[in-house]
Amino acid sequence: MPMVIAIDGPAASGKGTLARRLAQHYGLPHLDTGLLYRAVAMVLIDMGASLDDERAATHAAAGLVADQLADPRLRERVMGEAASRISGIPAVRGALLAWQQRFAGGAAGAVLDGRDIGTVICPDARVKLFITASPEERARRRHRELDARGEAASLAAILADIQARDARDASRAAAPLRAAADAVVLDTTELDADEAFAAARAVVDRARTQ
Ligand code: DC
Repeated sequence: MPMVIAIDGPAASGKGTLARRLAQHYGLPHLDTGLLYRAVAMVLIDMGASLDDERAATHAAAGLVADQLADPRLRERVMGEAASRISGIPAVRGALLAWQQRFAGGAAGAVLDGRDIGTVICPDARVKLFITASPEERARRRHRELDARGEAASLAAILADIQARDARDASRAAAPLRAAADAVVLDTTELDADEAFAAARAVVDRARTQ
């Protein structure tokens, strides 16, 4: 049976790093699904459309191609904010659903990380992890990451972003951020990246032998 690993969690929880490392360790393809929403947002920004323009957003989502996911601008803070806004549009989510399920349906399996992988995209995934950490710790991690890329932002501004994003991602009507009932919740506030990786691996290895 293909090994599908669903990884969800709030912004800057470390789920992306963890997903990449698990994919490499188990030899599985990896999809960072946040990039899909960021790419749709970037299309709207680049064409000067409003982020509330549902038709334009749905059109951009329906026409998305893999090449668009490689643009380094997608990692910018403004794209994350914009992605969070357009991700509340149900038709956008619908247009991206098939894309993600096709990726997950490959023969080998896959690792997908996002907000609704275990709940909506891959409800039958063999392994579901919900990665979390305190907002303050997530803000510190994001701050270090942005700093390393030369994108200056104050810690307070990043914390405010994270809190606003948490509230928006968790309260939207369409596929809100929440742990699936059968997900293993991993709080990484007190863990470094290696410890989080070891804990996640233990969950996957347990599932593989069942
Ligand atoms: O993980 P990220 O920061 O790249 O995600 C950016 C935004 O995209 C996030 O705030 C909400 C949205 N998103 C989503 O709604 N569902 C996903 N599976 C992934 C991201």
